[in-house]
Order: sequence, then C-alpha cells, then structure tokens
Amino acid sequence: MTLRIKFNLVMLAAFLVGLALAAVFFNKFSERTARKAILSEAALMMGQANATIHYTDTQISPLLAKQMAVQFVPQAIPFFAAQQTFDHLAKDFPDYTLRQPTLNPTNPSDRPLAWEADIIQALIAEPTLTSLVTERDTEAGKILSYSRPVKVDSQECLTCHSTPEAAPPSMIDVYGRNNGFGWKLGSIVGAEVVSVPERVALTQARQSLYVIMTSLAIVFAVMLALLNLMLHMFIIRPVRRVSALADEVSLGNMAVPEFDTSGTDEIGSLSRSFNRMRRSLTAALRLLEE
Ligand code: HEC
Repeated sequence: MTLRIKFNLVMLAAFLVGLALAAVFFNKFSERTARKAILSEAALMMGQANATIHYTDTQISPLLAKQMAVQFVPQAIPFFAAQQTFDHLAKDFPDYTLRQPTLNPTNPSDRPLAWEADIIQALIAEPTLTSLVTERDTEAGKILSYSRPVKVDSQECLTCHSTPEAAPPSMIDVYGRNNGFGWKLGSIVGAEVVSVPERVALTQARQSLYVIMTSLAIVFAVMLALLNLMLHMFIIRPVRRVSALADEVSLGNMAVPEFDTSGTDEIGSLSRSFNRMRRSLTAALRLLEE
C-alpha cells in the first residue's frame, strides 16, 4: 500500500467518524431549537387568545349586558370572541387551530375529539398543571398542541353554565337546555388547545442540517486535496528522487549527480546523509582499487 493510499484512508476514516458525530449533534441541536420555536409560537397564540378573552370579558360584555336581556348576543361571550378572531386568522394559516373542547359544551362544535378528550382527562387528573404539551401524528405531519385547563373560576360563569333556569332565556333560545349546564365551581370542564404544525420548522431545521453537512464535506474535500498536493510535493516526489538516485549508485553508476540538499526539512537531511554515504563509498572503492 502506497504512502498516498494509507494517508488518504486514515483521513477519510477520521472524516467519516467526525461527520457522523457532527450530524448526530447538529440534528439533536436543530430539532431542539425547532421545537422551542414551535412551542413559543403556540404559547404566543395562546396568549393572543387569552388577551381576546380578557378584553371581551372586561370591555365588551359589560357594554352588551343590557342588550343581552332582550336578545342573546354571542359577541359578548369571551370564548366565542376568542374563537371568532382565531378563525379569522386561520384563513391565512389553515394548519393552525384554536379549539375549546369541553366535556359538556354549550356549543356542540366544542365537543372533544378523542385526542382532545385525552388532554382534558390528563388536565383533570393533574389539577396543578397550568399547561400541557402533546404531539400527534396526522397525514400532514406531526402537530404540536399546547393546552391549558379551562376552570370554572368564578360564580359569574355559573349564571350561564349551571342550570337552564339560571341562564338568560335569550341564550336558551339559541343554545337550548341540554348542553353546557351542570358545571361546578372550581372544576376543570375543558381545555383551550392551540395546535401548531411541526412540519415547517422541522423542514427548516433539516435544511440547515444539510447545509452544515455539505459545508463540512466541502471544507474536508478542499483540505484533503491540499494535503495530497503537499504530500506529493514535499514527501513523495523528493523521496522518489532520492530512491531513484540511490538505485543508480547501488548499481555502480557513480556518474549520477549528487542529491539536491538545499531543503532544511527531514528530506534535506536525508539527502545530505545519502551524499555523505555516497562520498564515503566512492572513497572506499578508490582505496580498494589502489
Ligand atoms: C352570559 C352567559 C355566559 C357566561 C357568563 C359565561 N359563558 Fe361560557 N359560554 C356561553 C355560551 C353561550 C357559550 C357558547 C359560545 C359559542 O357558541 O361558541 C359559551 C362557551 C364557553 C366555552 C366553550 C365551550 C362551550 O361550552 O361551547 C367555555 C370553555 C366557557 N364558555 C367557559 C366559561 C367560563 C369559564 C365562564 C366564566 C369565566 C363563562 N363561560 C361564562 C355563555 C356564557
């Protein structure tokens, strides 16, 4: 095996091991970064929905209180307002959703799907949890859901969610008497669930991984080419020259010129040693001849 092959094999092995380690490391790192970005996106959307709920509760509902007695205006309901504003947003971002699944909902469209029911049960089972992050696989890829419990935290909620008799008649006219009642003060009745597709952020993460890996491979290829060139110029070529001259001398051809000893490196000192040996040999031969 030539020096060049040995050298290249070792370099290639070192590079492949390094590249594999770098791929594992960068993959973990970029996935973690992407997940953080997805989570903060979901938390931001949840914050936005809660801001709408708060705004409607404190500023719109009081204004519509009188109107409510005559005719039911869902616009005064904080959760209705949050859903409406979000649904508007979803026209531009169809993969993002806000849902308010509730075990016994006023609006039948808030009935929980199987995976939402699991979230509600998990939040009920662990009442100290303020939020829950879950993931599920869909045809469109992984979806991350950020959920918060909906707790009946004030007596006011019970006006509309305890018994049909306590609720405004105008509300009963719209929603009927069968759904959304019997809620208890202090209990968790459902969840607010913001869902964000992971596909976009994960695809971006994978793309940056490819860019990093390709850059590493290019840097390595350039370095390997340079090292090969240096190996050829500084080691292989001079050694071949020394070896060819030494061959000639060993075959008795003393007319060949001396080695070039101008170099200050190891090859230079090897050439000087050869030259010295050759001179000694010539002197010894001459002595013998005499
Ligand atoms: C004035 C009556 C009223 C009051 C007070 C009220 N709600 Fe509601 N709530 C409704 C109506 C009506 C809906 C259905 C809105 C819709 O069509 O989306 C609703 C919807 C909800 C929903 C979505 C699930 C569902 O039932 O469809 C949740 C969760 C909710 N309310 C929780 C609360 C909480 C918590 C409070 C107290 C802070 C509260 N509500 C106070 C009338 C009320």
